[in-house]
Amino acid sequence: PARPRVLSGIQPTADSFHLGNYLGAVRNWVAMQETHDAFYCVVDLHAITAGHDPVVLRQRTRVAAAQLLAVGLDPERCTLFVQSQVPEHAQLAWVLSCITGFGEASRMTQFKDKSAKQGADRSSVGLFTYPILQAADILLYQADAVPVGEDQRQHLELTRDLAQRFNTLFGATFTVPAPYIVRDTAKIVDLQDPSAKMSKSASSPAGLIELLDDPARSAKKIRSAVTDTGREVTFDQAAKPGVSNLLTIYAALTARSIDELVEAYEGKGYGDLKKDLAAVVTEFVTPIQERTRAYLDDPAQLDKLLAIGAEKARAVASTTLAAAYDRIGF
Ligand code: ADP
Ligand code: NA
Repeated sequence: PARPRVLSGIQPTADSFHLGNYLGAVRNWVAMQETHDAFYCVVDLHAITAGHDPVVLRQRTRVAAAQLLAVGLDPERCTLFVQSQVPEHAQLAWVLSCITGFGEASRMTQFKDKSAKQGADRSSVGLFTYPILQAADILLYQADAVPVGEDQRQHLELTRDLAQRFNTLFGATFTVPAPYIVRDTAKIVDLQDPSAKMSKSASSPAGLIELLDDPARSAKKIRSAVTDTGREVTFDQAAKPGVSNLLTIYAALTARSIDELVEAYEGKGYGDLKKDLAAVVTEFVTPIQERTRAYLDDPAQLDKLLAIGAEKARAVASTTLAAAYDRIGF
């Protein structure tokens, strides 16, 4: 039987992915290449909803694509593309926006949170309709499954509602995607504030480990991570969130399990754990940085890979859009 199709995207809104992005999402993308017909996109259309600099956006889009290749996405085994290179995303989003209720869109909590931060009057209509574009991203590829974190659940629910509504109104057109709950992902917390998740927008620089940052600086951040009272290395996310986070990262980046690590650090202190983890992170990011640089140093090759990806994506997206257009009378 054909492999289930999966669609996932990541925004080019930072100069580097951080360990939370990698261990919570991207690492799983690499694994899903083996089990799914995987479509992955750098969602640059989504990255312009709250103001941006064009030069920075272009650079971040390239760096995001280069990093995805560097951590193991293989254009032979998945379809990797940049969203703006496939115009069907914006075209289908318009159609879907016309079957989305204003009240329905107004209930999206991520918009409420983000617009509250920006000031409601300063928020763009694009920020408001963002989940509809996300629905288009997914439905264009007839994705069977979408890997989702808790924060994206409501948006996937909207996607399912819109697919079902369109199918009912105009005839069966879209696959209704199911949430794909990934077991093997880790939630990484801020090194300085273990009560919060590691986040590019909310973490202080000292709380964030970026894949492309100078490994010496990342090592220093790990050595100065906030740890917990007591001195025993044990895994207890409620009572010892700082130490548990370090163990989570350590286990995720090596062949060792958390239990094995706890046993190995018996009788040792937090300092030993931090020193060793700093070395593990350095060893992990160094080849990724080298490969990322190699992709960025050969812009023609990177452009070619992305053009091939966009062409593969368009073959599917244009078929779906044509069917939807036909259904609605275009
Ligand atoms: P950020 O929170 O830094 O803005 P995004 O919202 O762009 O990150 O998230 C991109 C992907 O990375 C999402 O799939 C998200 O669930 C995942 N992710 C982000 N931060 C973490 C984290 N601290 N731990 C685990 N996964 C995370
Ligand atoms: Na491990």
